[in-house]
Amino acid sequence: MDVVSTVAELKARVADARKAGLSVGLVPTMGALHVGHLSLVKRACAENDFVVVSVFVNPTQFNNPEDLRTYPRTLDADVDLLSANTSAAVVFAPAPQEVYPQPDTRVFSLGPVAEVMEGAHRPGHFNGVCQIVSKLFAYVSPDKAYFGEKDFQQIAVIRQMVKICDFKLDIISCPIVREADGLAVSSRNTLLTPEHRKAAPRIHAVLEESKALVGRMTPAELIKWTTDKINQDPLLCVEYYEIVDALTLQPIGDWSESDAPHGCITVQAGNVRLIDNISLK
Ligand code: PAF
Repeated sequence: MDVVSTVAELKARVADARKAGLSVGLVPTMGALHVGHLSLVKRACAENDFVVVSVFVNPTQFNNPEDLRTYPRTLDADVDLLSANTSAAVVFAPAPQEVYPQPDTRVFSLGPVAEVMEGAHRPGHFNGVCQIVSKLFAYVSPDKAYFGEKDFQQIAVIRQMVKICDFKLDIISCPIVREADGLAVSSRNTLLTPEHRKAAPRIHAVLEESKALVGRMTPAELIKWTTDKINQDPLLCVEYYEIVDALTLQPIGDWSESDAPHGCITVQAGNVRLIDNISLK
């Protein structure tokens, strides 16, 4: 596996692969890789001949400078993990000035899918995600790109960006990987204090429990029930919990409004912001 840091080297490696008739898969990441990322890379390797994994903490998607500063950066360990467990061909790990030689001023008109939940709570976040992901798609021109469903809204936003920009590729969404106690695996979990780590599995446990109440409560009542139950632990504080349609990401007022109701939650656990989601179908 090669580690490349320039766009020119990346493009040259991909061009060689294409000349050899290979299909190309891309797994965009911000590093601090864990079993969740490995599941994406393994799937990409099973479905493509040549797989690129990008490792780049993208500054334009952070609206909180402290969050950007403290985001874990572990490139050497990431490379070791990938070479020991996958057949990925290339790791693309650029410096910020390689990707942004000048400021990226593009503004994506993503519509309602990007205006709710993370879009409302993290202004500019999805525009930054689209800036970096569109650059990666342009560098690599993959046949398929892989994203984890923990970032459920991000996948919908990226699909929208693909439509707007007319990229020709398949977006493959992959199931959430969980710790044994149910906590969704995330690079941010390493930043939790031991006490917050112990409290955090409550998020998924309560979401699971809430499924039995679908139809017995209105969506608004279920939102309140779920929020109150998670907040009963003083170490957890729900930032938002929304029940939305899984395709449009728009909140529903009644179960009859969606064939695929989906719960999306963000919880502050000390200094760490955790997100999770669940199908309420
Ligand atoms: O999901 C992430 O890790 C990031 O948002 C992504 C897609 C790699 C873009 O920086």
